[in-house]
Amino acid sequence: MNLAALQPRLLMGPGPSDVNPRVLEAMARPTIGHLDPQFLEILNEIREMLQAVFRTQNKLTLAVSGTGSAGMETCVVNLIEPGDKMLVCLAGVFGTRMSDVAARAGAVVSTISVPWGQVFAPEMIQEAIDRDGPFKVVGIVHAETSTGAAQPIPPISQVVHEAGALLLVDTVTSLGGMEVDVDGWRVDACYSGTQKCLSCPPGLSPVTFSPAAEEVMAKRRTKVQSWYLDMNMVRQYWGSERLYHHTAPINMNYALHEALRIVLEEGLEARWARHNSVHRALKSGLEELGIRYLADPAHQLPMLNAVSAPDGVDEAAVRKRLLDDYSIEIGAGLGEFKGKAWRIGIMGESATERHVGAVLGALKQLL
Ligand SMILES: Cc1ncc(COP(=O)(O)O)c(C=O)c1O
Repeated sequence: MNLAALQPRLLMGPGPSDVNPRVLEAMARPTIGHLDPQFLEILNEIREMLQAVFRTQNKLTLAVSGTGSAGMETCVVNLIEPGDKMLVCLAGVFGTRMSDVAARAGAVVSTISVPWGQVFAPEMIQEAIDRDGPFKVVGIVHAETSTGAAQPIPPISQVVHEAGALLLVDTVTSLGGMEVDVDGWRVDACYSGTQKCLSCPPGLSPVTFSPAAEEVMAKRRTKVQSWYLDMNMVRQYWGSERLYHHTAPINMNYALHEALRIVLEEGLEARWARHNSVHRALKSGLEELGIRYLADPAHQLPMLNAVSAPDGVDEAAVRKRLLDDYSIEIGAGLGEFKGKAWRIGIMGESATERHVGAVLGALKQLL
């Protein structure tokens, strides 16, 4: 493949989203050393900007080298020791992935589920705690990318904290596109990804740990199961010690730095409002075409629109024509929704009226 001939796409799937040219230009800046004072200044600024975007004062806030799944593993393996009890709330593919990660880390995992597209009532979590608890950690995915539903974190957080557990929240799809308030919601461990509403290429995973989570980590009896993701060591590179642990992905960090600058220049509230208004335009256009949403409408995510492919339509053939003839990428259904659904992402740079007009125009011609 000749990279110079690469065909650009409108990225309207579940991630990655379109990337601002400023971010791509930042990635092309000269590579410097991972202990160069200039690079260390960049890391400090990334931490400060991540604190602003996560809405937290947490000192232990940084970008893990790896995609969103690395952030998931980082949060789980640093909090869990073999034999610890963890409750994982399953409402789609990524909750299931979190329970798998927890089991591999040696947790005694309990799960509760709701049908795909639905959300948990706090009472369900209370019942699970009464039945199988106490738990050290309760894990939940805020924005479930496989279904398009947003879990109501604040009431869940209250139940979890009353029971003395730590709350672990996946914000891979939500961060930068809708409200995430780590301190206000009392989230103890939170991870995200770069390639969705932050509109940066995939490759880093922002994470943040509350003082309570740090205390639990400080009292561990056993070593963290993963050497690479052990926060005790990684934090000594991101902190004032600057101890070598692994070579930071230099140019990926340039990209995240620029992407975060763009997010904060726009302003978080303005960015959430933009995702909402673009979502409303997409929704009304899809409904005009007779296309139905799959998630509970009261909890629909703005940035991820999981919809039923109309009866009699070959959903894979439509996706292929969108890509081949219109250079528009949308996502397929996952798991229970495989073969039946499309997932249309309007994340970050892809949340514009232009994107909505392009995908609706193409679908009108194809259906
Ligand atoms: C909610 C959620 N969590 C975790 C992940 C895993 O992220 P990654 O694919 O970047 O490893 C994804 C990816 O789509 C996701 O949507």
